[in-house]
Amino acid sequence: MNYRHGYHAGNFADVLKHTALCELLRLLLSKDKKLFVLDTHAGTGGYDLAGALAGRTGEADAGIARLATAPREGMPAPVARYLAAVAAYDRKFGASGGRLRRYPGSPRLIRAALRPGDRFVACELHAEDALALKREFAGDRAVEVRAADGYKALKAMLPPPERRGLILIDPPFEAVDEFERLARAVRQGLRRFATGCYAIWYPIKDEAAAAAFVAALDAPKRLVLELRVAGEVGAGKLTACGLAVINPPWRFEEAMAEALPWIASVLGGRASLVAPPASVPAPASPA
Ligand SMILES: C[S@@+](CC[C@H](N)C(=O)[O-])C[C@H]1O[C@@H](n2cnc3c(N)ncnc32)[C@H](O)[C@@H]1O
Repeated sequence: MNYRHGYHAGNFADVLKHTALCELLRLLLSKDKKLFVLDTHAGTGGYDLAGALAGRTGEADAGIARLATAPREGMPAPVARYLAAVAAYDRKFGASGGRLRRYPGSPRLIRAALRPGDRFVACELHAEDALALKREFAGDRAVEVRAADGYKALKAMLPPPERRGLILIDPPFEAVDEFERLARAVRQGLRRFATGCYAIWYPIKDEAAAAAFVAALDAPKRLVLELRVAGEVGAGKLTACGLAVINPPWRFEEAMAEALPWIASVLGGRASLVAPPASVPAPASPA
């Protein structure tokens, strides 16, 4: 396991994933019922953008830093809410509105949104990053950090007793068969917990492979968000990615339809939002 999210924190892929995550949380938590959240591939929770890892790649400069310095006028409300969540995390470290220094990973964004009584489990398999994640939430009883395989947790923890859940699946795509593993995990998850909301991140390094993965996610209700920035797909550097959302809450599509084109224009790219029709079973052939 070589992947460290610290090198990529706050890049265009995080912008897509985390804007959507903030909206999913907001909409799911607007109902007066308890929510279970599972972050299967959690990372370390928070990142120092000037630190050794993020500082080396500078990927946040072409991602969150562009959004944070964009004019507020005309900014879609979902983006403003995401930026407010990012700024709130940065302020915990004494920032006072200058250059963004700290960036919240998915566990921090989730934790900030939860209400008393909701439940949150974050899994991280990399030993060092799991330790960092445990430190990030030390003493916080609302967060259960597991140094464990998120795919196994998904199998073990679904369906949740709350019967309402958000499952974020954000693997590093180091393994050559990650798409297959991911599709299998989602199928298993849906068999156990068909009404859960699943947000599944994927890279687009090969258009055909990504399209085949999305097509294989054959859930009746799903929305596929994709973001492409400058550069060729498959030329080495990641320039495109997607987030497939199964069972999105009411109004999520509307929120992302407002946010995505704006994000794409600020990042100098293009975005798409598609609700693919579920495949219709073939009619039984006459005997
Ligand atoms: C893309 S990063 C996660 C970023 C995080 N979700 C966020 O948005 O801030 C993927 C993480 O998954 C971890 N990982 C890899 N395989 C795993 C597995 N099977 N179970 C849990 N975590 C895993 C990696 O160490 C890495 O920290």
